[in-house]
Amino acid sequence: MKYDIKDIGLAKEGALRIEWANESMPVLNRIRKRFEQEKPLNGIRVGACLHVTTETASLMQTLKAGGAQPFVCASNPLSTQDEAAASLVKNDKIPVFAIKGEDDKTYYRHIHAVLNARPHYTMDDGADLVSTLHSERQDLIEHVLGGTEETTTGVIRLKSMAGDGVLQYPIIAVNDAKTKHFFDNRYGTGQSTVDGIVRATNRLLAGAYFVVCGYGWCGRGLAMRARGMGANVIVTEIDAVPALEAVMDGFTVMPMAKAARIGDFFCTVTGNVNVVRKAHFAVMKDGAIISNSGHFNVELDLKGLKSLTRSVKKMRPFAEQHLLNNGKRINLLGDGRLINLAAAEGHPSSVMDMSFANQALSIEYMVKGKHSLKKDVYPVPESIDRKIAKEKLAAMGVAIDRLTSEQKKYLASWTLGT
Ligand code: ADE
Repeated sequence: MKYDIKDIGLAKEGALRIEWANESMPVLNRIRKRFEQEKPLNGIRVGACLHVTTETASLMQTLKAGGAQPFVCASNPLSTQDEAAASLVKNDKIPVFAIKGEDDKTYYRHIHAVLNARPHYTMDDGADLVSTLHSERQDLIEHVLGGTEETTTGVIRLKSMAGDGVLQYPIIAVNDAKTKHFFDNRYGTGQSTVDGIVRATNRLLAGAYFVVCGYGWCGRGLAMRARGMGANVIVTEIDAVPALEAVMDGFTVMPMAKAARIGDFFCTVTGNVNVVRKAHFAVMKDGAIISNSGHFNVELDLKGLKSLTRSVKKMRPFAEQHLLNNGKRINLLGDGRLINLAAAEGHPSSVMDMSFANQALSIEYMVKGKHSLKKDVYPVPESIDRKIAKEKLAAMGVAIDRLTSEQKKYLASWTLGT
């Protein structure tokens, strides 16, 4: 079996960490048990380009339990947990091509290694696998029957491919399921981003000015959690509706040009490029800490930062201090890559449980073939989303009410008023 990982000797530690993650993934565990019995994915090769974490390992084990053979590479050069990768190779016989800290060349070599397996389905997080397949490996596309996409940035890219008429097979946008983005993007990003910033810096958030750039689902979660740690949270936005929501959620909203002068911490979660730029770096306070938790490392204008920088000193594993020509220091975390996976461990298992249940059930839905999906991007079927919510609540021991027949009638009637 071919693979490329850091150290197979890490497999024992990885297995324990995966077991730990599994203990908080009850919905995925149920799916795995059913898959073991029914083998709905028999003979299917899945090419997965995901953050190679313990939670991803649980998902890969689930696909394998269903009869599939997964091939795995990383969806970000800095997000791989080398222990999880080692355990997948050694204990589950799943080929993994991922090493934490790999350079861009290796990152793409690993994507090609997964494509070499001629997957029937792609499982992507950010759409690098799908875009490489469509641009450089078109000879393989005829084998591919469908795919799934995990994240907002990937869904935007794939919709643009579909809009341009180049997407060659159907993709289910797992990100857009309610049981994914309401929870993973909000509570997962909220907690893991604060975790990453704290692990990278060990600085106190209480009383600090914390600037959250973007108030989508991730920004909402991050702002909420930074406030929970006692920070004064400032939100920047380009869209009036989320900006208004941030104001009414009790945050201070202002343009980046103004926030740049005030913030102690900055974190981008917009999905867009150069959100914090040269002009902003130039007016930041001495010691400002900048980070990104959006999918790609494009949100901080690192070229702009470099052009203002006199010298760079690596202070801690994920903190690089830039001494600017104006004499001030700016601390860049995790090279501007998603700080929650670079310096911490990504979203906690309990939230990935729902995201990855959506992944497993969406692949099963496609494999079963009782659909008429074309070359486009589709939502997760409502029935899957609802089932996951129900199972998660049940696993948490939470019961809810049912509509009475009188209430059902009332909701269905237009004649009943005052
Ligand atoms: N994305 C964010 N957190 C993650 C995790 N723990 N595993 C896989 N993908 C993730």
